[in-house]
Amino acid sequence: MMKKLITGIKNGLHGKLTIPGDKSISHRAIMIGAISNGITEIKHFLLSDDCLTTVHAFQDLGVDIECHHNEVIVHGRGIDNLKPVKHTMNMGNSGTTTRLLSGILASLPFQTKLIGDQSLSKRPMKRISEPLNQMGAEIHLTNGHLPMTINGKKLHAIHYRLPVASAQVKSSIILAALNADADSVIDEPQSTRDHTERMLNQFSPQTIITGWHQIFIKHEPKLIGQNLTIPGDMSSAAFFIVAATLIPDSHIILKSVGINPGRLGLVHIIQRMGGHVELKHPSNPNEPIADLEIESVEHLKPIHVQHNDIPSMIDELPLVALLAAKADGISTIHGAEELRFKETDRIKTIVSEFQKLGIDIEELKDGFKIDGKKLWHVKNLNLDSHQDHRIGMTLAIAAGLLPKTANVKLNHEKSIDISYPEFFNDLNRLITK
Ligand code: S3P
Repeated sequence: MMKKLITGIKNGLHGKLTIPGDKSISHRAIMIGAISNGITEIKHFLLSDDCLTTVHAFQDLGVDIECHHNEVIVHGRGIDNLKPVKHTMNMGNSGTTTRLLSGILASLPFQTKLIGDQSLSKRPMKRISEPLNQMGAEIHLTNGHLPMTINGKKLHAIHYRLPVASAQVKSSIILAALNADADSVIDEPQSTRDHTERMLNQFSPQTIITGWHQIFIKHEPKLIGQNLTIPGDMSSAAFFIVAATLIPDSHIILKSVGINPGRLGLVHIIQRMGGHVELKHPSNPNEPIADLEIESVEHLKPIHVQHNDIPSMIDELPLVALLAAKADGISTIHGAEELRFKETDRIKTIVSEFQKLGIDIEELKDGFKIDGKKLWHVKNLNLDSHQDHRIGMTLAIAAGLLPKTANVKLNHEKSIDISYPEFFNDLNRLITK
């Protein structure tokens, strides 16, 4: 079934919206709650397909987890009390579940088999099996991918230099290192989101010490269950931040969004382009949050994104490309080769779908070149998410910029449930207010 997308949003976006809970932090709350002792109560949990994959995985491992809408109670049993799972565990579409869970399973004395959907089965897993095997685990992949068999072993500490800037890989090693025979060190050449580190320190102070591009991990910390409130997801807020920047006469407020420095790249890019995004009422519990106020602007300057800018906006790059497609000139995005290993090869999917919209976009080995001056010309168009949630939502926002008469449909819109099941309802709320 194709979904007809909203086009010709005339009077802008208006009103206040509470953004659903952060996906990265929701996954970690279940996992760290499960391997701690005692109860972890989670408020504003993200009830999306990906996070439910994590919930079901830990229920399979014997953890009692109660879900009452977006309030979740995890009855932590300590890492050594997780139970073997006899059947093959299905990770669905979730890279975060697969990579972080592998770190936990690497030290447990049993065998686990993991599979995933078509997209997940194409994503690289050697980046986690290599360090975990160096620590003493026995992980077998299928040509570098899922299906994966993990034979957990007593692990040795590691000093590991991350070859890719990846919070998932970093977190997988951190979670394994918790159960190793001594303290470990990770060298991180480029900083990435530090949700795992912050949460572990909340569950047991000083488990992680962060130095200059180095992370020290204490082994066998005493993790105790906590009460957590998950911040709104910056990567979900991002769709409305960009929509309100680009759709004339918009003025919106997004409440209690996570502003972890490792996630702020898009906000900085919009400010560099001349857009109006302001952080209001910041507060700093374990994960910092703020309300975001966004107003539309008539002109955006073109932008040149470099390698160092990438990690803090890795999931927002489809939206950065959309901003560039509306800027006054030629923009370039470099250093983004990691996009080729996401739910789809996002360099390819963005280029092919944006070209359908008439956008002047060129594929580069490590990103894109986009000329924003070209007018979009579209009528009766079928766009495709390629089963990639963030591509689907980016295209839905792009459609909103087209004239009412454009008649645009989206194929595979269901994939949006991976991270934002309420996306279309929330968009409608901002249109009708
Ligand atoms: C995530 C890290 C990023 C991001 C993904 C979630 C996480 O992946 O793209 O959506 O929760 O740690 P990589 O670490 O693989 O870049």
